[in-house]
Amino acid sequence: MLHESQTTGAAPVFAHLNGRRAVVTGGMSGIGLAIARSLSQAGAALVIIDRTPAPAGRLRDLGLPPDTNFIKADIADEAQIADAIRRADEFLSGLDTLVTAAGIARAGTTPETSLSDLDAVVSVNLKGTFLTCRAAIPRMISAGGGAIVTIASEQGLVGVPAMAAYSASKGGVVQLTRSLAVDHARHGIRVNCVCPGPVLTPMLQAFADSDAGAFAKEAATTLLGRIGRPEEIAAAARFFVSDAASFITGAILAVDGGATAH
Ligand SMILES: NC(=O)c1ccc[n+]([C@@H]2O[C@H](COP(=O)([O-])OP(=O)(O)OC[C@H]3O[C@@H](n4cnc5c(N)ncnc54)[C@H](O)[C@@H]3O)[C@@H](O)[C@H]2O)c1
Repeated sequence: MLHESQTTGAAPVFAHLNGRRAVVTGGMSGIGLAIARSLSQAGAALVIIDRTPAPAGRLRDLGLPPDTNFIKADIADEAQIADAIRRADEFLSGLDTLVTAAGIARAGTTPETSLSDLDAVVSVNLKGTFLTCRAAIPRMISAGGGAIVTIASEQGLVGVPAMAAYSASKGGVVQLTRSLAVDHARHGIRVNCVCPGPVLTPMLQAFADSDAGAFAKEAATTLLGRIGRPEEIAAAARFFVSDAASFITGAILAVDGGATAH
């Protein structure tokens, strides 16, 4: 499917997503939830895939339309994510938009990181993103193309202390994004990556629970001197999937308050 700006040369309308059919992984919390809200507010039909069940009757409290479809699946499980994407594709009558926000973090230098922590982080962040895209792409090709946004991290771009497994997994997501962009441009699929800096979500809160100074330390890594809001990451994802980004693919965008600029 060619989008309006490709066919008419008309100026693209920023972040208007009417008629788009979107899947967001990790959409029940933090950054994924903000992205799910933002895409749905822009007019996209939405399916959330997450391993955490949707709270019964509480989608409206989360700022999601009550008819949002939720599918419980572990993105690191090949059969589960393949089945979830198949069901999402059926529910939406086609799939043209994908944001892969599900992820986990573990702290530690390389010698401090257990094999089980390495396996867990790489399985979810890198293998899970790979499996999600592998299941979705043939369906997006059938839909005539579309847009994928992966969520990596500033820690996929630069080294930071004691985040060895996480950084390695997110560096993998950055390179996977470029490979996907190269392979699927000819199918009309654009693939871009957002690399958040520190953002106030349950993931970051978990680090702050074990280190009282974590928020201040994270804020100090940015040029803007503060932690980001999930909505500030969602704005970048919404831009990338929209026709306003119709000439952008393979881009890696740090949305990190300048943390990686110095
Ligand atoms: N918060 C930050 O500071 C920050 C910074 C950089 C990158 N990120 C990345 O942004 C993404 C979202 O992080 P967040 O801070 O919103 O975290 P979060 O913990 O608030 O939300 C993550 C969501 O992903 C889901 N999830 C985790 N593993 C899953 C799996 N195997 N299968 C299905 N769903 C799974 C969780 O259930 C949860 O709903 C992650 O990829 C994370 O690495 C976060």
